[in-house]
Amino acid sequence: MNQTGIQQEASMFEQLQPAKPDAILGLTEAFRNDSNPAKINLTVGVYKDDAGQTPVLETVKEAEKRILAEQKSKGYLPMTGSPEFGQTVQELLFGDGFESLSERARTTQTPGGTGALRVAGDFLHTMFPQATLWLSQPTWPNHPGIFAAAHVPVDTYPYFDADSNSLDFAGMISKLETLPAGDVVLLHGCCHNPTGVDPSQQQWEQIAAVLRDRGLLPLIDFAYQGFGDGVQEDAAGLRAVCAACDEVLICSSYSKNFSLYNDRIGALTLVARTAEQANTALGHVKLRVRTNYSNPPAHGAAIVKTILSDESLSSDWHGEVDAMRTRIHAMRGLFAATLADKGVEQDFSFMKEQRGMFSFSGLSPQQVETLREEKSIYIVGSGRVNVAGMTADNMELLCESIAGVLGA
Ligand code: LMR
Repeated sequence: MNQTGIQQEASMFEQLQPAKPDAILGLTEAFRNDSNPAKINLTVGVYKDDAGQTPVLETVKEAEKRILAEQKSKGYLPMTGSPEFGQTVQELLFGDGFESLSERARTTQTPGGTGALRVAGDFLHTMFPQATLWLSQPTWPNHPGIFAAAHVPVDTYPYFDADSNSLDFAGMISKLETLPAGDVVLLHGCCHNPTGVDPSQQQWEQIAAVLRDRGLLPLIDFAYQGFGDGVQEDAAGLRAVCAACDEVLICSSYSKNFSLYNDRIGALTLVARTAEQANTALGHVKLRVRTNYSNPPAHGAAIVKTILSDESLSSDWHGEVDAMRTRIHAMRGLFAATLADKGVEQDFSFMKEQRGMFSFSGLSPQQVETLREEKSIYIVGSGRVNVAGMTADNMELLCESIAGVLGA
């Protein structure tokens, strides 16, 4: 008998089967438990410096000092978060002349980019239950899970041509041209995760025209601004879409470019045809926030806002982002060159053309498993490598081990 007097036959939890580990974070847990001192983690998208550390940015430290000195309350934020942070986000997204778009754009501060995607999913499911969401093939492994949890039907469009390690632009466009009006297309704003392959500016403009002509709603996942070609450059595709389409959803993250991973700071920005329609849509977003987590945590937003509203801190932050991007790019070149030195015949120089933290290495699931089991080198099962986890110090061992599984 339990306390309510009801006969309890069996433990409820006893009946549960073990859950499948998360494709990315599950490996991070396994990496933590690995006692090999030479272990290398190329799984989760977290930036590491030359010393293999994920440092707190200097500008973040300075902003935190100021916040601590000036903070007067820890009262709840509004459901949509800090309005000043929202304005900062719109300046980052839209750039010069952001005010004209801001009239019909509304930003909701969210716990990370993942929080923004989930709120967007809940909004789509509640307001547009018939809409299918189209994901690139491949995409971030958490995308299908987030939208399944929000009950949004998903399907895929072609994106990556594995033979040429480049964009399957013709395949992508011809699929988009068949989609029915009112469906939603998720695009990676820059630094496509997991392939590192982005459309050119001209291709972005063609994509934007198809979305507009077919009445599709773009949902842009923008988690790596500054890690591709630069803070402004990386927003060019998103801006082309906003210039062509009246209605857009943007999920942005500040985990990577402010190195604020555990402060969970992101945003959902909706662009509508008119200010009035934007306010109405925002009202529904607020309800989705309220039933998810009520209102967002404040600290990360305060940091981003403090840095970007101070000219000198902002300029230092741009320097810090440039340094992270430059280091990742240097690792791409070094990786390709070191593999060639180790006798690997396959040409990895395509990785120099790719952008952001990730590339598809082309390693098979079996090769990935051998690297993990025999060398404590952790790579996502799809063969995606986090280039930001490579350093001058771990490169020799990494490339020697990869050469080993490739039979070089
Ligand atoms: C990644 O793809 O590794 C990052 O977006 C982090 C995550 O949560 O998966």
